[in-house]
Amino acid sequence: MHLPVSAVLLAVAGPATCQLNKLAKEAGLEYFGTAIDNPSLNNQNYMRIARDSDEFGSITPANGQKWSNTQASQGRFSYGSGDAIANIAKETGQLLRCHTLVWHNQLPSWVSSAYSRDQMERILTAHIQNVVGHYKGQCYSWDVVNEAMNDDGSFRQSPMYRAMGEDFITHSFLTAASADPSARLYYNDFNIERCCNAKINATWDMLLSVLNAGAPVHGVGMQGHSRVGKSPSKREMKETMARFLQLVNEVAFTEVDIRHTSLPVGEAEREQQARDYVEVVGACLETPGCVGVTVWDFTDQYSWIPGQYPGEGEACLFDRNLNRKPAYSSVASLLQSAASAGLRGSATAAPAVVTGTPTMPE
Ligand SMILES: *[C@@H]1O[C@H](CO)[C@@H](O)[C@H](O)[C@H]1NC(C)=O
Repeated sequence: MHLPVSAVLLAVAGPATCQLNKLAKEAGLEYFGTAIDNPSLNNQNYMRIARDSDEFGSITPANGQKWSNTQASQGRFSYGSGDAIANIAKETGQLLRCHTLVWHNQLPSWVSSAYSRDQMERILTAHIQNVVGHYKGQCYSWDVVNEAMNDDGSFRQSPMYRAMGEDFITHSFLTAASADPSARLYYNDFNIERCCNAKINATWDMLLSVLNAGAPVHGVGMQGHSRVGKSPSKREMKETMARFLQLVNEVAFTEVDIRHTSLPVGEAEREQQARDYVEVVGACLETPGCVGVTVWDFTDQYSWIPGQYPGEGEACLFDRNLNRKPAYSSVASLLQSAASAGLRGSATAAPAVVTGTPTMPE
C-alpha cells in the first residue's frame, strides 16, 4: 500500500518540524508570540494554531484589555474580553503580554474631559490599580504606556498629557509597579524601529527622565508595523535597540506585521516580504537584550490592516486560509540556523529586571 506522493511530501515538509516558538527558544529568545483578538476565539482551525505553544509561546490580547473594554464607564470595570484571552494562556502555559493600560486611542469619552492634574492622577491610579490588580500574577509583561510621542518628537496631546504633562508617564509606571511587582513594564510605540529619527531621540529623552524620576521602565516595545520593501534594515534596528538598551534591560518587537501596499501580490512581493520579516527577527536574534518577537495576529484573515489602510494588506505570516507563507518559512529557517549556530547560546535565563534609577552614560 503506497501513500500518494503529495501525502508523503506533506508529511516530510509538515509544520511539526519548524514551529516558531520552539525554534525561537532553541535560538535563545524567550518567545515567539502573537496577538489574538476575541472574534477569532470560536474559529477552531485558527485556535489550533494559536494555542500551540510550540508555534507561539506568548499571546497578547489585541483589544480585550484596552480602556474602552475594561472601564467603559467610570468606576465600572469589566474583564470578560480580556479574561477570554488570558484564560487561554492559563490553560496552555503560554506567556501573556498584557496590553495596554494608558493610550490615547480606544479611550472612552469620559476620560477625555478637561480634568485637572489631580483628577487625572486619580483616574489613572484607579484604572491601573484595578486592571493590573485583576490580572496580577498572570502578566509576563504590561504595555503600561502606549504611543505617547508624535513622529516629530513632541509629546502627543492626549487627555493624560494635557492634564499632567509628562508626569502621567511616571505616575503610570509607578502605579503599575506597585499593583504587580512581578510584571515587566514596557513603553510601547510605533516608528521607533529605524534609528535615529526625532521620535526615537525624544522617546529616549522621555524614558531617561521617567527613569530618573524613580519609575521602573523595564522594556521598550517596538511595534514593528511596516511596509514590504520599505521596512527598516537589520542594521538600523540593531542600532535603535542598542540605544534603548542603554536605558532599559530589554527590548522586544511587539506588534509586527509587514503589509503589501498594493494587492494582489505576486511571488516577487511575497519573497520581499519574507526578506523583510527576516530582517526584523534577525535584528532581535543579534541583540542580546531583545527577548522576543510578537506578530500582530498571524493570519491575514484577522489582520487589522485592510480596515485601517484600505487597499493594503496580506501583512501576516499565514494567509487567510491559514497556509504558511514564504515569510513563515524564511523566519523558521533563520531561527533554525541561529539555533544550530548557537548564536545566543541555548535558551537564556530571564535577565534580571532593573528596578532602580539607571546610571546614565555621559
Ligand atoms: C538623534 O540623535 C542622534 C544621536 O545623538 C543624532 O546623531 C541624530 O542627528 C538625531 N536625530 C534627529 C532627527 O534629531
